[in-house]
Formats: sequence, C-alpha cells, structure tokens
Amino acid sequence: MPGVVIVGAQWGDEGKGKVVDQLAERADVVIRFQGGNNAGHTIVRDGQEFKFHLIPSGILHPGKTCAIGNGVVVDPKVLIGELDALRRQRIDVSGLRISANAHLIMPYHVILDTAGEAKLGKYEIGTTKRGIGPCYTDKAARLGIRVQDMLDPKILRTKIFAAMEPKKQLLRPFERDPRLDLHAMTEEYQRYGHRLEPHIADTAKICWDALDAGGTVLFEGAQATLLDLDHGTYPFVTSSNPVAGSACVGAGVGPTDIDEVWGVCKAYTTRVGAGPFPTELDDEIGAHLRDRGHEFGTTTGRERRCGWLDLVGLRYAARLNRLSALAITKLDVLAGLDPIRVAIRYRSSEGAVLDRFPYHQTVLHGARAEYVELPGFSEDIGECRTEDDLPQPAREYLAFIERETGVPVKLVGVGPGREQMVALG
Ligand code: GDP
Ligand code: IMO
Ligand code: MG
Repeated sequence: MPGVVIVGAQWGDEGKGKVVDQLAERADVVIRFQGGNNAGHTIVRDGQEFKFHLIPSGILHPGKTCAIGNGVVVDPKVLIGELDALRRQRIDVSGLRISANAHLIMPYHVILDTAGEAKLGKYEIGTTKRGIGPCYTDKAARLGIRVQDMLDPKILRTKIFAAMEPKKQLLRPFERDPRLDLHAMTEEYQRYGHRLEPHIADTAKICWDALDAGGTVLFEGAQATLLDLDHGTYPFVTSSNPVAGSACVGAGVGPTDIDEVWGVCKAYTTRVGAGPFPTELDDEIGAHLRDRGHEFGTTTGRERRCGWLDLVGLRYAARLNRLSALAITKLDVLAGLDPIRVAIRYRSSEGAVLDRFPYHQTVLHGARAEYVELPGFSEDIGECRTEDDLPQPAREYLAFIERETGVPVKLVGVGPGREQMVALG
C-alpha cells in the first residue's frame, strides 16, 4: 500500500485520527495535506487520550516521520503548544517535519474570522474561529506569510506589513489590540521560527523519497468531503479541499502516487456548525447518539448535531473520492436502537425523488431524507475483535452499506480504544 489517502466521508469527526493511528503502523511517512487547527483528531491508547489539531496522528509511533504538508495552514503558537504537551507526555516528536511552504495563521486572521462571523449574525457559518478562512484567503491573494518567512526577519516584517495594509479598514475596530502591533508580531513569529526551525523541511521530497524507495505514505485528511470548499455544502464548508484529490496538491505528489483511498465514516452522521443536514434528528434518538457517542467537538467543545446514516451523501463521497475502502467507526453507539434507519434517498420540497446528492443548494436545503429500516442489536460490541464476534444485525448493517456504496468495508470501530477495531475481509 504505497500511497494511501485517508479522508472523512461525511461532515468531519468520523474518527480519522484513530484510523490513521492504526494504519500508520505500516507506513513510513504520515503527512497532513490541508486544513489547520480547525481539526481535532482524538486517539485513545491504553486509556490515555491524545488530541491533535495540527500534528499528524502517526506521531504516537516513535520516530515515525510525520509531516505537515504545504497545503496545511499552521498556527505556530498552537503547534508549539501541541509539541510541548507531547514532550511532557514523553512522546518522541523528533520525526515531525513542517513544510517550509505551508502558510501561517497570523493574529489578524483569527480576529477577522471572529469578526466575520459576528457580522454574518444569524447567517453565520459556525466556523471554529481559528482564522482558517482568512488565512486561505490571503494565500490565494498572494498576501500570505509562509513558514520559511519566519526564518528571515526582514522579509517577515515586510510581508506582515503588506498583508495588513489592505485590511486596515476591516481591522480599524481592533487597532489598539496588542496582537496587531507590527513590531511585536514580527518578533513573536521570529521566535516561533527559532523554535520550529529544526522541524522545517521540504516535505514533498520526504514523500518522494519514501515512495520511490517502495515505502508507504499515508496522506491524512482533515475535515471531510461534505465540508469541501468546492464539493461540499457551500457556503457551509471549510476553506480548504478535504477531498482525496487535494492530497496531491497539499503534499506535492502526483495522482499516480496514490494507490488507495480510504473513506472514514461513522455508523451514523454528525455535523458541527451550520448548514443543511437531511438526516438530522432532533429527538431522543439524536440525544442517544450524542450521549452514547460523546458527540461534543474536540476543537470547540460544541454539541455535534446528530442523525441517521445518510447513504445519499456517502455514495457521493464514495464517487467523488473514488474510495477503495471504507472504515465504519462508532458502530457500538448504535447498540440499543431498534430498528436502525438509513437514508437511501431524498425527497425534494416539490416531491421529486433524489437518488443523488443534489448540486443545487436550494434543493439540498429543502430535501427530506427517506429511510429503510434494518434490524438493530442490543449487545455491547466493545469486546468484538473479529467479524464473527459481531451480532448478525450489525454484520447485515455493514453488508448493506457495502452494497449501497459499492465500496468494501475493511475496518469497523467498536469503541474509542486503539484495540477496539475489527478488520474485515
Ligand atoms: P476525527 O476528527 O475524524 O479524527 O474524529 P474525532 O477525533 O474528532 O472524533 C471521533 C471521536 O470518536 C473521538 O473521540 C474518538 O476517540 C471516538 N471514536 C473513534 N472511533 C470510535 C468507535 O469506533 N467507537 C466509539 N465509541 N468512539 C470512537
Ligand atoms: P476534523 O478534522 C468537524 C466545520 C466548522 C464549520 C465549518 C467551517 O476534526 O474532522 P472553519 O473553522 O473550518 O472555517 O469552519 O467547518 N469544521 C469541522 N467540523 N470536524 C472538523 O475537523 C472541522 N473543521 C471545520 O464547524 O461548520
Ligand atoms: Mg475531529
């Protein structure tokens, strides 16, 4: 499995971190290719919980090369905090590499993200307020500050000045904010540069070297397909491309370097922030999923919206990413729900049957999910380790997902722990 991309197949928080941690055992390099510290990837090992926002989820494997690719937006303060926390937990972080070309989240990006949401009022997107959107905006406008700029104080100051100049009007209400002082900001980012310098590298070449030597590279996605800037539920999306195709751009490899694409999908659906969600449950079943699944955001602590599995969305994700395998997580959370419902199509507000994910925003906002009912199971499946251990209705549920998506289910999550995973086939 030389080049393997791992992406979220829904609206995020599917358990990508856990799946990457599992697959990383067999990988030479793990690289993040988009997003920033809007991501929150949780790994539970021997009862100890690790939460990563920027550092790739392979870092718990000692000495493993874990890279932050050029497509990621890096808040250096957050990254240093994460590194320090890992060191305190005696985790070897010597394998961390950061692309010199990755863009930096600056204090004005965070301020503009928060101010932008406030201005939208009831139309807000519900961003994580980490400065992600404004940072990618500057990247596209060629006003971004990159990781390499932290190593050259003169260039750093000039670029910060140039980036803040066109934002003067927007930043006027914050002009006394000490975070926006040009001199202090330059010094602060220079200090971050000194701290991070031993980790800064050409991360594309790290991937090429591993792939050319026949090694395995895992491309770790953040966010998810339906939050994709181009293909998701725009404007209720993130500002990067979490789909598999973006791994090439965000890590610096070619499409033929990719051999497999794994989609991670919960056995039900969740979403944080605003936007359409056809299978959302605002009842005791939604509450069951939230309580049993601990559906509260890793990054912002917000309650996640919960609902049944949506096969219309999943089929869309399967095709868009050309998934070669599925990892279905949190199957254990469905225990006690009978029947289990699965959305197989939508009905538009005008009564039309929609078998495919609608491309028109208005249609999607008005769409109602239509369900089939499958038998549930009541057993706690947290101790299951093989397919045969799983109750028959759970196996039927997985087979149904496979049939409907045409993608083989290769891993099944039965609890948050590292060992709570069943390999199929
Ligand atoms: P990510 O953003 O896709 O990496 O997912 P998050 O880490 O934000 O959210 C997934 C949550 O579910 C984490 O708290 C995981 O520890 C937990 N989790 C992952 N797989 C399973 C599973 O199979 N069962 C249960 N109960 N929890 C899981
Ligand atoms: P992981 O990697 C779930 C959502 C936010 C908001 C929208 C835009 O843990 O799956 P942003 O701050 O990116 O501009 O917010 O995207 N969002 C996520 N939802 N999981 C994530 O990451 C997310 N990252 C962003 O809630 O709706
Ligand atoms: Mg998450």
